[in-house]
Amino acid sequence: MIKDVEVPVLTNTKIGTNTFKMELDTGADLSGKIKPGQFLMIRTINPSDDPLIRRAFAIADVEGGKITLFYDVVGKGTKILSLVKPGEKVKILFPLGNGTFPLNYKENVLIGGGIGMAGLTLLGKELTKRGNKVTVVYGAKTKSMLSMERFLKDLFKDVYIFTEDGSAGKKGYATDILSELTGKEVIHACGPIPMLKSLYNMGHGFKIFMSFESPMACGWGVCLGCVIKSKDNSFLRVCKEGPVFEKEQVII
Ligand SMILES: Cc1cc2nc3c(=O)[nH]c(=O)nc-3n(C[C@H](O)[C@H](O)[C@H](O)COP(=O)(O)OP(=O)(O)OC[C@H]3O[C@@H](n4cnc5c(N)ncnc54)[C@H](O)[C@@H]3O)c2cc1C
Ligand code: FES
Repeated sequence: MIKDVEVPVLTNTKIGTNTFKMELDTGADLSGKIKPGQFLMIRTINPSDDPLIRRAFAIADVEGGKITLFYDVVGKGTKILSLVKPGEKVKILFPLGNGTFPLNYKENVLIGGGIGMAGLTLLGKELTKRGNKVTVVYGAKTKSMLSMERFLKDLFKDVYIFTEDGSAGKKGYATDILSELTGKEVIHACGPIPMLKSLYNMGHGFKIFMSFESPMACGWGVCLGCVIKSKDNSFLRVCKEGPVFEKEQVII
């Protein structure tokens, strides 16, 4: 059931040039209640009520009642969020999204571009818990933008790094891993549209599931602001039918 609650912020820590890690105390037992791929909409509680519209973030981790988010500061909403102090409250609407990642494949590759990696970490944890194999591929423009590297390496054994300028890991794009993959069944991806497009065009021979991060206003299917095209020439709401879609469902 979707909850609309005010919850205290436990931590809101700068972990990279432009990236923050935020932990929230929902006060509820969330064990088994959040599916990998689901997200929340968040806004601060400030006297000006600006910005009014909540912002969407992947639920990157869940432990008991604690939810972890990772976010890049890109505009007004995320700037204001970055100023929230531990102990202050924020408003969240969660869990959102009905299209989630499958958990039944044995050989999984998680490809995250930039902050899109946050959309895959809960999935990686759940797959590992079930005894399925997980290879994590994390790509960013440059070394200073690999803010989630420590978090990933604490959670997963197989982590491959790519940077566009070669300042860390292999030089190139996270999707370059495709030419090296053998024996893998499925790719789960989240990141910028150009990355998803290239997977869409290159990833033959794999099942591919992609999580989309279209700009959203309502987050629960009402405003139609987040739609993407489906293969049968209709539209799919990223917030309601997604955010995760199998490649065969969509056109990008
Ligand atoms: C399901 C979902 C999950 C997401 N998960 C994360 C996450 O875990 N971490 C994270 O950092 N971000 C995530 N995003 C993106 C995040 O919602 C936006 O970055 C945020 O809303 C920007 O708010 P803002 O007010 O700071 O920027 P705005 O002032 O609204 O915009 C600033 C700039 O960012 C661009 N922008 C705004 N929203 C998006 C977007 N959704 N995608 C691409 N560009 C955008 C605008 O066009 C503009 O150029 C997610 C989005 C969705 C829909
Ligand atoms: S954000 Fe309103 S319908 Fe998806």
